[in-house]
Amino acid sequence: MILSVNVDHVATLRQARLGREPDPAAAAVLAVLGGADGVTIHLREDRRHINDSDLDVMRRMITVPLNLEMAATDEMIEKAIAAAPAMVTLVPEKRQELTTEGGLDVSSQMERLTYAVARLHGAGIEVSLFVNPSPEDIEHSLSTGTDRVEIHTGQYANASTPSMVKQELQKILAAVGKAVELGLTVNAGHGLNYHNVQAVAAIKSVSGLYIGHGIVSRAVLVGMEQAVRQMKQLITQARLT
Ligand code: PXP
Repeated sequence: MILSVNVDHVATLRQARLGREPDPAAAAVLAVLGGADGVTIHLREDRRHINDSDLDVMRRMITVPLNLEMAATDEMIEKAIAAAPAMVTLVPEKRQELTTEGGLDVSSQMERLTYAVARLHGAGIEVSLFVNPSPEDIEHSLSTGTDRVEIHTGQYANASTPSMVKQELQKILAAVGKAVELGLTVNAGHGLNYHNVQAVAAIKSVSGLYIGHGIVSRAVLVGMEQAVRQMKQLITQARLT
């Protein structure tokens, strides 16, 4: 199972002073030294954290696969094609949201998503769609031509009672099962941290975890390398069970 570390919130801290530090590219290098198998950044329409220059620098510096999260807009499709990351994850984007709040509403955007997937594939870029743990959304995803889906684990992460946690995990399991049945590669992410990661990491058909806020929060206290190493240890342990 791969761990791709999202360094957006290193850029959030930089943007708090509109300065030059901390540098998300430096954080990404340290994440790789700590064992990250990939690096993720989200270039948002409002450039609230990661900016075009970060994308450019990371594309040239990072030795592990770079995953670019973005909305399926014409502007972003052109940026992705020019930058040529290993993978693009298409996400819904709203200006007012604090973070990506839900998965894509795939069925209502079939045409746009299918177009985006085809353009990105034409440039040799692998594509993943960020979706809610819903078998219907996963079926619709297949029709867009996507290679992968990333199952949104936010509801699971926010579940506040053991029975809600169980219920949300069941939804994730059903969604993973549907994706595997359809031949899609399955990733998972959002809201995962050192306390809740293991139940998701233990799902054998999940190929990759995409984690940002939890790791960056710990990195502020213990350093990025150490924070990534600790997360990798938990994931490795969970895979052995
Ligand atoms: N996956 C996707 C598609 C996301 O948009 C995000 C947040 O940028 C994450 C994973 C990581 O979420 P978190 O920062 O809560 O770990």
